[in-house]
Amino acid sequence: MTVNKNIYPIFDRMLSRTDKENLLEQRGVMLWFTGLSGSGKSTVAIALERELHRRGLLCRILDGDNIRTGINANLGFSADDRKENIRRIAEVAKLFVDTGIITIAAFISPTEELRQMAAEIIGHDDFKEIYISTPIEECERRDVKGLYAKARRGEVKDFTGISAPFEAPACPALKLDTSHLSIEESVDQLLKLLGIEP
Ligand code: ADX
Repeated sequence: MTVNKNIYPIFDRMLSRTDKENLLEQRGVMLWFTGLSGSGKSTVAIALERELHRRGLLCRILDGDNIRTGINANLGFSADDRKENIRRIAEVAKLFVDTGIITIAAFISPTEELRQMAAEIIGHDDFKEIYISTPIEECERRDVKGLYAKARRGEVKDFTGISAPFEAPACPALKLDTSHLSIEESVDQLLKLLGIEP
């Protein structure tokens, strides 16, 4: 009987994560940025990606611009939608990490439960939680998108930090307050975390 022979034919033939990491000469890792809207997650992520790219390392940023307008365009900001948002992001991120890519996610991901779910999907060994801890007063002062003002006027509901919760991570791998650190200083700390000389 040959019936069972090909149950896992694709997995048998697929190249492994190690094959890809060896090709790229780097290791895949997940840098999971969490923090309030306007805290600087995307800004630091972009600066880090540029620096790593300059050093010949392949990165992929996942943020609102490429996720909430595409794969998650049908999701809003209810607790259930935020959970589905983070679940899908984590599943996509896992594919990048498994390809050996330095993967940077920049989402509010406001609760321990959501971040724990992401860590479990991606794998705790690969998951580094980065808390962009810029205080809400500074995020609101910046109000880059004008959303804090709208939230204060009640025009945006369930707004994180105003009318929806944000739980600070209990033990992040790194904490960066962009009201005290320059972008370059934040990038240097991230490089050190990755074991790279700034
Ligand atoms: S998360 O909570 O589901 O992780 P995500 O990071 O994807 O949030 O999206 C947050 C961004 O969406 C904010 O930076 C802001 O620009 C925008 N936004 C719109 N409505 C809200 C809201 N009610 N709460 C938080 N962010 C909102």
